[in-house]
Amino acid sequence: MDLYEALAGRRSIRRYTGDPVSEGTLQKLLDAARIAPSWSNKQCWSFIVVREQSRKEKLAASMPDENPCKGAIAGVPVVIVLCADPAASGRPDGKEYYLLDAGLAMQQLMLAAHAEGLGSCWVAWFDEAVAREACRVPEPYRVVAFTPLGVPARQPKPRPRKNLEEIVFSEEWGNTGVPG
Ligand SMILES: Cc1cc2nc3c(=O)[nH]c(=O)nc-3n(C[C@H](O)[C@H](O)[C@H](O)COP(=O)(O)O)c2cc1C
Repeated sequence: MDLYEALAGRRSIRRYTGDPVSEGTLQKLLDAARIAPSWSNKQCWSFIVVREQSRKEKLAASMPDENPCKGAIAGVPVVIVLCADPAASGRPDGKEYYLLDAGLAMQQLMLAAHAEGLGSCWVAWFDEAVAREACRVPEPYRVVAFTPLGVPARQPKPRPRKNLEEIVFSEEWGNTGVPG
């Protein structure tokens, strides 16, 4: 799949068929995450592959009922839990790059999943203490996010995005007008 096709076609998937994810595909996705860029190439991330039903249910329980992805977690074949060590990344001017590093790696995994015909969905609205306990994640690692992985039951419509005119300035802040 062409990169631009993958970027345009990826959606947050919250309904899955329950069909399995092969070990070979999972390895490819984890490898896509592994090669992501990071602060000073520190690679502060870790990924936990969760297949056990009881553990998936604990992760689902870490999410508030209002989280729209809550219903998907227990029924997917795999959940990937994204962890990171804040001290293993950079913090210039108080900017916590571990979140950026971890996010980039997860996004690579998600785009690769889409290219493989699989769905994913960022889950960051959860009780970290409950998720930490579910996967026995030690301090000082943070549980940054997790995602279900599986075969999408349907392809949702694209969610709206701002126009370039709203988010791009030319040369200086506030100069509207998309270059080119
Ligand atoms: C950092 C982050 C956290 C998110 N957390 C959740 C979440 O907890 N539950 C959920 O259903 N979606 C979550 N999302 C998915 C967004 O709602 C989704 O990306 C956005 O609505 C755009 O839809 P799309 O991904 O289908 O393009 C999260 C996305 C990001 C980037």
